[in-house]
Amino acid sequence: MPEFHKVAQTGEVSPGEVKQYQVEGRPVALCNVDGELYAFEDICTHAFAYLSEGGLEGGQVKCPLHGAKFDVKTGEAKSLPAVKAVPIHELKVEDGHVYVALNPKQVKVGGRGRGRR
Ligand code: FES
Repeated sequence: MPEFHKVAQTGEVSPGEVKQYQVEGRPVALCNVDGELYAFEDICTHAFAYLSEGGLEGGQVKCPLHGAKFDVKTGEAKSLPAVKAVPIHELKVEDGHVYVALNPKQVKVGGRGRGRR
């Protein structure tokens, strides 16, 4: 059984919005696509950027740094320069609160020294 963590109240993220929360020390993005909530690791798999700072376009979140897009339902990278999927977290809504079970997969941060800007 995955361990669920209480993250937010359901009304905190409005349709079309994406916000960052900290869960167990990891940045988690919560977004609302037409009333449906989704959660994913809030780190771009290309270099390092918080995807929640980019914004939603339809069902995709756009990286603020180089513009890669990810499907918020599957995590799949939809446009370059990102090619790896972003981990999706299991989410449930109960009693007006949003709970997230963290995906054991994490984005490896540490592009430092590889020289991408
Ligand atoms: S850091 Fe997100 S596209 Fe480059």
